[in-house]
Amino acid sequence: MSELVIEGLHAEIDGKEILKGVTLCIKSGEIHAVMGPNGAGKSTLSHVIMGHPKYAVTKGDIKLDGESILGLSPDKRAKKGIFMSFQYPAEVPGVSIGSFLRNAYNAVSGKEVPVLEFQKFVKEKSEMLGIKQDFIKRGLNEGFSGGEKKKCEILQLAVLSPKMAILDETDSGLDVDALRIVSEGINRIKSAAGMGVMLITHYNRILKHVRPDFVHIMRDGRIVQSGEGDLAVEIEERGYASMG
Ligand SMILES: Nc1ncnc2c1ncn2[C@@H]1O[C@H](COP(=O)(O)OP(=O)(O)OP(=O)(O)O)[C@@H](O)[C@H]1O
Ligand SMILES: [Mg+2]
Repeated sequence: MSELVIEGLHAEIDGKEILKGVTLCIKSGEIHAVMGPNGAGKSTLSHVIMGHPKYAVTKGDIKLDGESILGLSPDKRAKKGIFMSFQYPAEVPGVSIGSFLRNAYNAVSGKEVPVLEFQKFVKEKSEMLGIKQDFIKRGLNEGFSGGEKKKCEILQLAVLSPKMAILDETDSGLDVDALRIVSEGINRIKSAAGMGVMLITHYNRILKHVRPDFVHIMRDGRIVQSGEGDLAVEIEERGYASMG
């Protein structure tokens, strides 16, 4: 059982305060959707959780299983079991998905898994997710469509099997089939590994597949409303104007 606790978090970038007191607690096996208008600070929150060096935390704390992670570098946070997807994943020419995944796995686990053993492991995970084997041999994000990048992220999530996953707009630009693969992937990994999920999204459609336990609305650097899944439906119907 793991717990990610964000307590009264304030953070700034280039001297401008973006997060103005965010409090949130995510436990293993829970899915928390974070919604809110453009510029509310959702991506900032995910970068600050991961320890992006451009952001300075000025107040509050982030704890994983009772211990503050604020003093840890991003790779140490990843080793502790926090995973983050990126809104705009990078292209790394010449590195296959398979070797990228193996490097990531070795770095996070601190083990050196033999290539063949790792290939078998990735094959199992990709079969679980319905991702074809040819895909793994391709260069990381090289010429990938938006949906292929997202599938790659989900495969990475399955391989690393973190305690907590922060997924920033993993659903944007997906066609219905890719949305299903990604959503079912999140559900399967969640039930297999019991991870907690922070799912940042603009759309209720992914929440029909990945049922959130909680929905939080962020606005101007704060969580202004929290509720259950029906809050996302309400937002779709009425917009953010009526909130907070
Ligand atoms: N270097 C910077 N200097 C000043 N303000 C910045 C800087 N970087 C980001 N911001 C501002 O921080 C705010 C929060 O941005 P963030 O990317 O966290 O929003 P978001 O909620 O993820 O929005 P979206 O839904 O569009 O992805 C925005 O108003 C943005 O302009
Ligand atoms: Mg964003």
